[in-house]
Amino acid sequence: MAQQITEQPYKNWRLERDDHDIAWLYADKAEASANVLSADVLEELYEILSQLQRDRPQGLIILSAKRSGFILGADINEFTTLGGQADAEALIGRGQAVLDRLEALDMPTVALIQGFALGGGMELALACRYRIADEDSAKLGLPEVKLGIHPGFGGTVRLPPLIGAPAAMDMMLTGRMISSRAAAKMGLVDYAVPERRLKDAAKHLVLQSPVPKKAKGWQAWVNHDLLRPLMAMYLRKQVSGKARKDHYPAPYAMIDLWAEHMSDPRRMMREEAASVARLVIGDTAQNLVRVFFLQERMKALGNKRDLDVKHVHVIGGGVMGGDIAAWCALRGLTVTIQDRNHETLARVMKRAHSLYKKKLKLPRLVMGVMDRLIPDIHGHGVAKADVVIEAIFENIEAKQGLYKEVEPRMKPGAILATNTSSIPLEVLREVLAQPTRLVGLHFFNPVAKMQLVEIVRNDDTDAEVVKQAMAFCRHIDRLPLPVKSAPGFLVNRVLMPYLLEAVHLVEEGVPAWAVDKAALDFGMPMGPIELADTVGLDICQSVATILSQQLNVEVPQRLKQMVDSGKLGRKSGQGFYSYADGKKVKQEIDKEYVPPRDITDRMMFRFLNEAMACLREGIVEEADLLDGGVIFGTGFAPFRGGPMHYIQERGRDDLRRTLENLEHNHGGRFKPDRGWYDGND
Ligand code: NAI
Repeated sequence: MAQQITEQPYKNWRLERDDHDIAWLYADKAEASANVLSADVLEELYEILSQLQRDRPQGLIILSAKRSGFILGADINEFTTLGGQADAEALIGRGQAVLDRLEALDMPTVALIQGFALGGGMELALACRYRIADEDSAKLGLPEVKLGIHPGFGGTVRLPPLIGAPAAMDMMLTGRMISSRAAAKMGLVDYAVPERRLKDAAKHLVLQSPVPKKAKGWQAWVNHDLLRPLMAMYLRKQVSGKARKDHYPAPYAMIDLWAEHMSDPRRMMREEAASVARLVIGDTAQNLVRVFFLQERMKALGNKRDLDVKHVHVIGGGVMGGDIAAWCALRGLTVTIQDRNHETLARVMKRAHSLYKKKLKLPRLVMGVMDRLIPDIHGHGVAKADVVIEAIFENIEAKQGLYKEVEPRMKPGAILATNTSSIPLEVLREVLAQPTRLVGLHFFNPVAKMQLVEIVRNDDTDAEVVKQAMAFCRHIDRLPLPVKSAPGFLVNRVLMPYLLEAVHLVEEGVPAWAVDKAALDFGMPMGPIELADTVGLDICQSVATILSQQLNVEVPQRLKQMVDSGKLGRKSGQGFYSYADGKKVKQEIDKEYVPPRDITDRMMFRFLNEAMACLREGIVEEADLLDGGVIFGTGFAPFRGGPMHYIQERGRDDLRRTLENLEHNHGGRFKPDRGWYDGND
């Protein structure tokens, strides 16, 4: 049995010694629900390791005392207060020194991993001689690249020799999470074992002290001086297809670091620190860290405790309803899905099945979720559901007719929500006995990918219902954003003028690919023309027409002509681009073509101008939430930190002058919103 040896002098760690004279060190960060390697946690660890070096137990097993898992990573808060390169390098250097000390301990060391071991937590595990993972709960990863940096506590130095360069670079360049079974297969952990056997297995490793694992064969050879340049070239090419170096420098820095220094680990350690320090104080990392905190903030808007939800009933099994239903079941809820038509329901089940297969892989898990998704043509689920989501055609009479029939059958206290993207709540709710309880849950397509859900509400919408709708989003792991019921809400409203400007450009003779390229160069995830084709030109036209009735938006003739001639985009095989089997047909590109000088400004300033208007009108309550919503709802260049942040960084007055010039050159649709002139930001 483990027992405490001394009075515990540590705030963030608990040290015990067992009958075999093995030291068990529990990470237990004070006043926190999860472990992170903040400066004080690392400092104490250093002291403890020095103590152990003197006491010389048989071995050391590091584990977590938290239910939330092993260790989540470095303390990201510390990234936001760095003074400069030297300051950053010192912070990283201290972390490296602690893990070096762990690695140098003259005894077997084991990381016993349950739950998440991410970033710095994973690097701590890599500095141990052995790693053992709970086969059910452990999730391992080095996701630093998602914050615009790369591992800095020796991860880039220790991982490639352990599992080989191909797997190591893949893990660090994608930042993906690895299950414990996969980790055992690739040699990232020594064993993946059931929870009940974890401690014995860890003890066994200490007592047997086998030769530590290391990459073998070609996986090890790729780390060799002669092969690295070739492999690095290949990796750079792979990465360049996903992210541009000037937007996202971290993956390129990581490849350079490995290619140049892998043969000299001590030097590589110093270079790793210098490289992370350079990255972390740069704009990209600072903005990605900002996005991380925006995401946390949006998560915190919903509190799961505000809603007890077990059963969701979705009405309308089309593109949206079907996918919303499938997603809710995947997140653990019982879901009944209603449609008028059997074939539609069969399609929903089929699509859900392929989603689950992709996400869960194991047939037994897929079956488990399929059991929770129940086709319900007669709508029996209405009476049992805690939340009813309507996602039928975008038609006022159809929706109102449905509400009249559904409302009286709902459980008292259940939520009625609509996924409408353009009909004002105040119109839809006219037929309800309790109109102030109708709320919008506006999901985005594709549901399984897009994290944002706009919570649409009127000024008099029942506050409790809004709270519950936000809680619901957290139950299904989506990000809620409260928005006013006004045309286009937030996301479609900022997106549409930008899309339409792209169409104007095409109308003027600019090739579609050149328009899309300009937006991609700015950092948008997909060009606006391809996006319009993907959403469907008929849908774009109808949203644009609705917006044009109230906002400064005109629908380009070109769009009307295309819709009239049946060119609806990807789904019809022909839009601005041609599609075969849903895939874009490769286009001829004229390399000599020079686009108009203001091509990017024309698109992006319409986006920014509309964002400014939304803030001024209070569509969203504040600038940060607007940025979060736009990033998670449209993919707006995350490394720029959001439209309002971008305006602030670039200087509002300068940008307003550019907008005034655009108005002068291209007309009233560029008229700067009033928000540019008042104190708002
Ligand atoms: P859809 O046309 O693909 O599907 C509508 C489905 O509702 C059809 O399967 C139809 O059989 C069913 N339906 C119609 N009346 C019904 C009734 N009385 N009872 C049961 N089922 C009925 O439509 P989609 O695209 O899924 O849109 C649904 C809603 O979601 C609309 O309000 C739309 O504005 C909104 N929305 C659409 C997005 C998109 O990208 N398509 C994005 C966000 C919101």
